[in-house]
Amino acid sequence: MNNRAAVITGSAGSIGRALCKVFKAAGYKVIGVDIKDQDGVEADEWLHGDLMRFVADDEYRDRMLGAIKAASGDAKIGVLCNNAAEQRLARTEDVSINDWQVSLDVNLTAPFLLAQGLLKDLENAGGSVVNIASIHARLTKPEFVAYATSKSGLVGLTKALAVDLGGRVRVNAICPAAIDTPMLREGFEGRSLSDLDSLRLCHPAGRIGQPEEVAELALWLASPRASFVSGACYEIDGAISSRLHDPA
Ligand SMILES: NC(=O)c1ccc[n+]([C@@H]2O[C@H](COP(=O)([O-])OP(=O)(O)OC[C@H]3O[C@@H](n4cnc5c(N)ncnc54)[C@H](O)[C@@H]3O)[C@@H](O)[C@H]2O)c1
Repeated sequence: MNNRAAVITGSAGSIGRALCKVFKAAGYKVIGVDIKDQDGVEADEWLHGDLMRFVADDEYRDRMLGAIKAASGDAKIGVLCNNAAEQRLARTEDVSINDWQVSLDVNLTAPFLLAQGLLKDLENAGGSVVNIASIHARLTKPEFVAYATSKSGLVGLTKALAVDLGGRVRVNAICPAAIDTPMLREGFEGRSLSDLDSLRLCHPAGRIGQPEEVAELALWLASPRASFVSGACYEIDGAISSRLHDPA
């Protein structure tokens, strides 16, 4: 162990599991936080937590922050990886206020409140925040209004915190394009398998990404090797965001 704890939200999800595995292998004490069961997650501590409630309820928030700090034990909290997210898809006229609120609460407000609540610990550890944003922060498509807005906000938050915290805590974001996970496949529900194949081919890399590739980038961003990297948003996208899509 490196005497550093890494707090990873959304640890029961596909990228969350990869994050836990990679940080644990690097010697971190991994504290997973998720609303779902965390069977098989490679974490040292699992906390059941609802980030919606974390945002809405001050008492619950204090209890969850206390539980995270208690779970870290002797290790200093050196990494907060805000990875949990809700992806609610609907055309503009069908976006409910609930979909909108859930998207902003889980994807944007909870990351801010976690960074705020763990700030002293992160600062004491010379630590950093890694926000898992999305390509949808910058480039999006129909039905992603709530999700894309929340992810743009998360990129804005990354830069604003990096500036406000200066040398105290580094704050960076990762903007993945398509990563091979159930969340991605849900976006293709009701469509043919060939749509997924077309998606692969849209990426100049000729494939979509793997959760471990996102996790490896997060590990590097959190490490001292990235000590001058703050306020950055790294695209991990097989070059899709560099490609001009025109019919020629
Ligand atoms: N899969 C992709 O292609 C892709 C692409 C770009 C960005 N991302 C981002 O990567 C991150 C992980 O995505 P994933 O594909 O592993 O998704 P996932 O759905 O497998 O994981 C998300 C996790 O967040 C948890 N979560 C949701 N609401 C919560 C709440 N209220 N309280 C606590 N936990 C809650 C879920 O239970 C789930 O385990 C997300 O931030 C997502 O936006 C994913």
